[in-house]
Amino acid sequence: MKAPEDLRSHRWFGGGDLRNFSHRTRARQLGYEPEEHLGKPVIGILNTWSDINPCHQHLRERAEQVKRGVWQAGGFPLEFPVATLSETYQKPTPMLYRNLLAMETEELLRSYPVDGAVLMGGCDKTTPALLMGAASAGLPSIFVPAGPMLRGNWRGEVLGSGTDMWKYWDERRAGTIGDRELAELERGLARSPGHCMTMGTASTMTSAAEVLGLTLPGAASIPAVDSAHHRMAAASGARIVDLVWEDLTITKLLDERAYADAITTVLALGGSTNAVIHLIAMAGRSGISLSLKDFDAIARRVPVLANIRPGGDWLMEDFYYAGGLPGLLSRLTDLLHLDRITVTGRPLADSLAEARVHNDDVIRPRDNPVASEGGVAVLHGNLAPGGAVIKHIAADPALLTHTGPAVVFDNYADLKKRIDDPALGITADSVLVLRGSGPLGGPGMPEYGMLPIPAHLLEQGVRDMVRISDARMSGTSYGACVLHVAPESHVGGPLALVRDGDLITLDVPSRTLQLQVDDAELERRLASWAAPAPRFERGYGALYAEHITQADQGCDFDFLARAGANPEPDAG
Ligand code: FES
Ligand code: MG
Repeated sequence: MKAPEDLRSHRWFGGGDLRNFSHRTRARQLGYEPEEHLGKPVIGILNTWSDINPCHQHLRERAEQVKRGVWQAGGFPLEFPVATLSETYQKPTPMLYRNLLAMETEELLRSYPVDGAVLMGGCDKTTPALLMGAASAGLPSIFVPAGPMLRGNWRGEVLGSGTDMWKYWDERRAGTIGDRELAELERGLARSPGHCMTMGTASTMTSAAEVLGLTLPGAASIPAVDSAHHRMAAASGARIVDLVWEDLTITKLLDERAYADAITTVLALGGSTNAVIHLIAMAGRSGISLSLKDFDAIARRVPVLANIRPGGDWLMEDFYYAGGLPGLLSRLTDLLHLDRITVTGRPLADSLAEARVHNDDVIRPRDNPVASEGGVAVLHGNLAPGGAVIKHIAADPALLTHTGPAVVFDNYADLKKRIDDPALGITADSVLVLRGSGPLGGPGMPEYGMLPIPAHLLEQGVRDMVRISDARMSGTSYGACVLHVAPESHVGGPLALVRDGDLITLDVPSRTLQLQVDDAELERRLASWAAPAPRFERGYGALYAEHITQADQGCDFDFLARAGANPEPDAG
């Protein structure tokens, strides 16, 4: 147990020198008497609330409930607004800014008198960003997930955010949906605060945070607008105060076993392919080297049990009622490290002691899984020497072994311009290739990976095709989309060398992705390939371009991912 003099904040407030006097003066300026804060853990509440982030619109109010818990437990809460990464609005993609929020998180925690951190996020990249920064800062930390929004609704039909947007937009392009229906869908797709309620990146990563041991048990599945979410926020605020006294830091929770359990859980959820990149990056901040091979190895022994869209039928609200993440984990106990300690201060097993499953279709039993192996397959081959991924459970099974001629698009603008051009002669057997969309080429690997099906094929009833890119794909998307091809075309990866008509073979059972062009020809093509000019000559973009790693390494900045001295500031 720590004593008040051991608190990090004591260095700011506790001593007798000029600076300590000055810091206490400013606490009075904030309106606090010394007895309200001196000797109490200072809890930094890092809040990604913003008017521009619809998924986090309730977090401004929810921070008040966190503060309630902090006060009740004898701490001193201070809220820090931090950058929000709004998945729908931020361009070219919030992925460009994940590392910026991670840096902001780490440096705020390091430079201010904070003893423990409450991290409030959920919309896609906010979760990995906050956790990467907190892992590097190394303080006691607890994550308050934003919670999924309510189910969407249209004419009594249940809608999933993202997933059904793509689906009905294709129907629109196929001419089966009119203006009136579209206007109704616009109102019904996202109808409450909270992050996407499909098993997209948001639900995947908040669930990963929970199994990593960084949330209170069950926190990640609670719908944003449920009163249980208020209570979870208050309880998280109370718990972080004790975590500080117990000196149970995030560093002590995040070991190799925790990341293995996170991969297991993400796969059993049929989670977003984005998790592959984020977990590699997060583990890197914990000094643990995860590779694509770890995902593939675990995927082969973990069944998909969560029957949630886009890979399944239900939504996060249903998942919560069915028992939530603890319910799912209670069916995976043989695959998890149950003796690991979590933010509760108790083993993971204790978090599952009362877990129950109330609906065997939403959370499947082991003998009736959604898929017998995990939702992500890792591919290698001459087209992806560094690896690529495919969420094969969300694809047409007939396409998982497929050879077809390439139709190549150099970048997203080219794709948008030409995809519906009948002169390209695209058939259902063609393999659509998009390049120029990787970490540098995108930049930020925008979620272009679910390339649109050409309109004439949609009209013929084609709903899936093999698509290959160095982009990412929204976790709410689906289809036979090979993603994260590494190295990307922008740095001269083989994707840069593909030409229209080249045959490409996708073979998911053997985990291969082959361009049927011989090595000598590929070398000739590489010799005449010219690297694109740098896009950014100044600013954050230039920093990003100089330091971003490729997808198979997690897309962190090289200088953030490495170990090394980073001294505590002198608060005197
Ligand atoms: Fe925020 Fe999907 S847009 S989680
Ligand atoms: Mg998304």
